[in-house]
Amino acid sequence: MSRNRKPLFTDQPARPALEEAELQKTHMRRVRQKTEQIANEKGRPLKGCVVTFGCQMNARDSEKLRGVLEECGFEQTDDEKEADLILFNTCTIREHADQHLYGRLGEAAGLKKKNPDLIIGLCGCMMQEEQIVRKIRSSYPAVSLIFGTHNLFTLPMLLDRVLEEKRRVIELWNGTDMIVEDLPSKRKYPFKAGVNITFGCNNFCSYCIVPYVRGRERSRDPEEILKEVRSLAADGVKEIMLLGQNVNSYRGGEGPEGSFPGLLEAVCRVDGIERIRFMTSHPKDLSDELIEVIARNEKICRHIHLPVQSGSSRILEKMNRRYTREHYLDLVAKIRRAIPDVSLTTDLIVAFPGETEEDFQDTLTLVDEVGFDSVFTFIYSVRNGTPAATMPDQIPEDVAHERFDRLLTLVQKRGQEMSSRFEGQTLPVLVEEKNRTPGMVTGRTSHNLTVHFEGDESLIGKIVPVYLAESRGFYYFGKMR
Ligand code: SAH
Ligand code: SF4
Ligand code: F3S
Repeated sequence: MSRNRKPLFTDQPARPALEEAELQKTHMRRVRQKTEQIANEKGRPLKGCVVTFGCQMNARDSEKLRGVLEECGFEQTDDEKEADLILFNTCTIREHADQHLYGRLGEAAGLKKKNPDLIIGLCGCMMQEEQIVRKIRSSYPAVSLIFGTHNLFTLPMLLDRVLEEKRRVIELWNGTDMIVEDLPSKRKYPFKAGVNITFGCNNFCSYCIVPYVRGRERSRDPEEILKEVRSLAADGVKEIMLLGQNVNSYRGGEGPEGSFPGLLEAVCRVDGIERIRFMTSHPKDLSDELIEVIARNEKICRHIHLPVQSGSSRILEKMNRRYTREHYLDLVAKIRRAIPDVSLTTDLIVAFPGETEEDFQDTLTLVDEVGFDSVFTFIYSVRNGTPAATMPDQIPEDVAHERFDRLLTLVQKRGQEMSSRFEGQTLPVLVEEKNRTPGMVTGRTSHNLTVHFEGDESLIGKIVPVYLAESRGFYYFGKMR
């Protein structure tokens, strides 16, 4: 078929990263002229809706997409029904994520029947998978724009083509070494913000698709990170979340800020920033220096998300996690000695290929021993192209579900025991939003525990002392002091 002769994925074009932002800004101005003209014809402003699936990394990318769309002349909306452009920022971490997208895409295609001018776009991790893009290209004619994780910043250029050529535009890259700075971004919260420090992942855990869809690990320049943090602080942001698939492997050059602990300390020195979080820490790379830095800097939140994945060293080896159960438990002990009241949370996968009842028991005893404040539990999901997909002894679904239920029961019991340990204390709480109950607001402690208490909207974005009167399992009812 002649249509398929051109490869779907191409190498990144030979354009210097430094000029990329300027190039995209030129396209933003051109798109804006076009959208203004359409808005005039329609007698109303155009609206854009970005729908986000997946992790914090995608949430941050969506802020960049929203910033660009706004510059391109699209007002923001969360209502797909009133949108002139819907952009799905997809995730493909588990099978379920893929299915979810197809459902939403079907609904969007229905909207396009009523509004033929509607532009439906797709980007993000799922679009880096060739068989998925082929399926969408042939089965979803309503989609007019597809791009991937490596060329996210080319949205203005691609949108310009969609409006100009009035036909479907697909541009996908095999990878990139570019990090494009200085493009617009529209933050979701005025008081807290995610800041990328690394992109991609080099770990190749045997079950995981991320290294294939996000590419090789790249670290941002520490000065660019600090510049962004300073400007966020100047804009009133109090809490920063440093983002990367494995923040501990951050390598930003030879200077003191070129390592993750050094970078954290530099972020601590930024006036106005009162809380710093980070996601995610890989247990194989969490250094003693990092533990010391957290212990001596009160601004760094007393919460570490430290995904363990399994309690069995045998399974951990098959997962290519490069640590053992014993290493993980030693690490936890070391962290607790240095930061006694720290909250630990984790991710666990049940029913990895070859997992025996004995391996699963190791996961249960690890959960019991560590005492996590909360745990994200997942049933292993086959991802095509990963080594685990072709491993022998894939676990039957009924066994997987049965183990999952047993794990969940334990995780909830231990989580409730652990997170009730602050009852009776007064702790600083960053107020994040109005509660559904009138007259109540909701915020978080440094330990990432949720607290509901009486208060009004004017408290949002402020850090206030709250007495944690009553633990209700995973959240507290409190009283402002
Ligand atoms: N970089 C992070 C994890 C990112 S993905 C880390 O290494 O900790 C978030 C979580 O999804 C993982 O921690 C893992 O528990 C889960 N996950 C990833 N691939 C999966 C798969 N194929 N099936 C089930 N869960 C998976
Ligand atoms: Fe996936 Fe492992 Fe990389 Fe995390 S560290 S993103 S689980 S490959
Ligand atoms: Fe999903 Fe991509 Fe994040 S696959 S979990 S959105 S890195």
